[in-house]
Amino acid sequence: MVKNLQDTTTLHNGVKMPWFGLGVFKVEEGPELVNAVKSAIKNGYRSIDTAAIYGNEDGVGKGIQEGLAEAGISREEVFVTSKVWNSDLGYESTIAAFETSLAKLGLEYLDLYLIHWPVEGKYKDAWRALETLYKEGRVKAIGVSNFHIHHLEDLMKDADIKPMIDQVELHPRLTQKELQAFCKENGIQLEAWSPLMQGQLLDNETLQEIANKYNKSVAQVILRWDVQNGVVTIPKSTKEHRIAANADIFDFELTKEDMAVIDSLNQNTRVGPDPDNFDF
Ligand SMILES: NC(=O)c1ccc[n+]([C@@H]2O[C@H](COP(=O)([O-])OP(=O)(O)OC[C@H]3O[C@@H](n4cnc5c(N)ncnc54)[C@H](OP(=O)(O)O)[C@@H]3O)[C@@H](O)[C@H]2O)c1
Repeated sequence: MVKNLQDTTTLHNGVKMPWFGLGVFKVEEGPELVNAVKSAIKNGYRSIDTAAIYGNEDGVGKGIQEGLAEAGISREEVFVTSKVWNSDLGYESTIAAFETSLAKLGLEYLDLYLIHWPVEGKYKDAWRALETLYKEGRVKAIGVSNFHIHHLEDLMKDADIKPMIDQVELHPRLTQKELQAFCKENGIQLEAWSPLMQGQLLDNETLQEIANKYNKSVAQVILRWDVQNGVVTIPKSTKEHRIAANADIFDFELTKEDMAVIDSLNQNTRVGPDPDNFDF
């Protein structure tokens, strides 16, 4: 059982990744971003999730550097994820995109590099690039994002290295049970994006009733459901009080019955595009 904010899951290559991290989607370059990353590290977070397309890797890098210095901890103690954008998918172009991300972040290696979306006809070349970067030790783990089961099957047909992670939209309205079972069978760690459904679930009555029982917030109940389910989670906030509160989920345990009630909220509805039907 996950006991604290710094507890990790062990990926299939032995690398340890925190169960809990900070997301920074839609946070623009500037002091709000730098302060969010610093607040997260100050409050005990040890994992930060960004992407080239977010256009904020400079500030994320600055926040990490300043946050580590203030907390007196080393680079190795924080897990940094970025993602290659669709327009850069290809062997050489993915390697170049990786170098750009690394330079912007001001880091010498990444902990996790992901293919952001499964663009047909392009993701296999990009995967070979990720395998090269991994074999060269430039990145500790490699994975994918927004891959359905059929994308994973297709990728693994030709891959040397199985993805260590699949990061997908996952919340009580999109529980992804089939994908989770597939990932478990294949040693792929599932990771939830938009775990709070971008705020849309926070006034859900069923979740509120459960939250009341434990004297917790709806956000805390959802994030606790993630980790109890064996899913890595990366809620986004730029507000220090929420950054701290979201991570305050290690002092209670949802019962099996409450886990099942949350599972039953599934409607297979998304806030983002379906990976079988996106046009970017
Ligand atoms: N791989 C992909 O394709 C993909 C796609 C989307 C997201 N992601 C990653 O996943 C991360 C999380 O997803 P997300 O940012 O889309 O959505 P999210 O984490 O589900 O929700 C974030 C929203 O909820 C608000 N919020 C956070 N904690 C709250 C709380 N305790 N009470 C009330 N409101 C709260 C935030 O506002 P404030 O900031 O004002 O607190 C923000 O508007 C992203 O930041 C990104 O790193 C990946």
